[in-house]
Amino acid sequence: MAKEIKTIGILTSGGDAPGMNAAIRATVRKAINDGLKVKGILRGYQGLLNEEIIDMEKRSVSDIIQRGGTILGTARCADFRTKEGQQKGADICRKHGIDGIVVIGGDGSYRGAQALAREGINTVGLPGTIDLDIACTDYTIGFDTAINTAMEAIDKVRDTSSSHERCSIIEVMGRNAGYIALWCGIANGAEDILLPEKYDYDEQKLIDNIIKNRKHGKKHHIIINAEGIGHSTSMAKRIEAATGVETRATILGYMQRGGSPTCKDRYYASIMGAYAADILASGKSNRVVGYSHGEFVDYDIEEALAMEKEIPEYAFQVSQVLSR
Ligand code: ADP
Ligand code: F6P
Repeated sequence: MAKEIKTIGILTSGGDAPGMNAAIRATVRKAINDGLKVKGILRGYQGLLNEEIIDMEKRSVSDIIQRGGTILGTARCADFRTKEGQQKGADICRKHGIDGIVVIGGDGSYRGAQALAREGINTVGLPGTIDLDIACTDYTIGFDTAINTAMEAIDKVRDTSSSHERCSIIEVMGRNAGYIALWCGIANGAEDILLPEKYDYDEQKLIDNIIKNRKHGKKHHIIINAEGIGHSTSMAKRIEAATGVETRATILGYMQRGGSPTCKDRYYASIMGAYAADILASGKSNRVVGYSHGEFVDYDIEEALAMEKEIPEYAFQVSQVLSR
């Protein structure tokens, strides 16, 4: 028989992402609207273990839909990877009357939610990461804002790169995933895109491309390099020495994770946040919300974590042709 849910908790975990606040707002208001009580857990799983738990009302989430970051704060918590930490977390939930939890974060945060579900607390995960690297969903909260922030910055670097007839290596976020690099690479018309999933470490190919493009009259050469490959500054020095073309590195960094969320991030986060409240209210547990083939869907966490996501091959091939 499904457990009766009276009070839910909500936390954000892992790297923050623009749109997390819109998701928090939606979960809080939908749950309260449906007769549930809501508690906010500050600073992710670390805050749960420290019992940093606050009551939330509809007005607690006023004026946050347009704000980047997360009003609940976020953290990485090594203790929550242990059985003792997970049991303690579940005990703290019971102590505070929390029957179910919404966890907004990435794959790692889902594993924490899975552990809490095993300990008897109903859980649902929402995809919150700028990296788009969650296999069960075509959309993750924060990706759209991050790529638009990066795209605008890259356009600016391109202006100065063309004026000085330089090569620019621009490093974007994505420690394990190249989605930001691929989307910006295409949207910014980059000459080369280096993705952790595809890079063969053959720098000579890059050097040959730069020399060839120069001969064909290209004034700049933009290389979008994903953080997972990194080493943009040393790469720039080697490329300049090999090509004779002045080469500069720009690392965009954390600016990509902040800022006011785009309309798309606010919209999807709002629907997903409400959907998560519905899942918990219905007594379901161990679920994650996704957006797939034009619909909002939910999966068992284990099933979701077993899925694999690949860089779209056609998009990558096209990117290689369009800027030549
Ligand atoms: P993300 O959620 O963005 O993938 P992390 O991988 O850093 O970010 O995970 C966020 C937090 O989730 C970790 O600091 C930890 O507290 C928790 N977590 C990660 N992996 C596990 C795991 N295997 N079991 C329990 N909790 C985990
Ligand atoms: O939010 C995703 C992400 O930006 C990754 O691309 C990156 O590897 C990671 O977070 C870095 O986060 P932090 O420096 O906060 O650990």
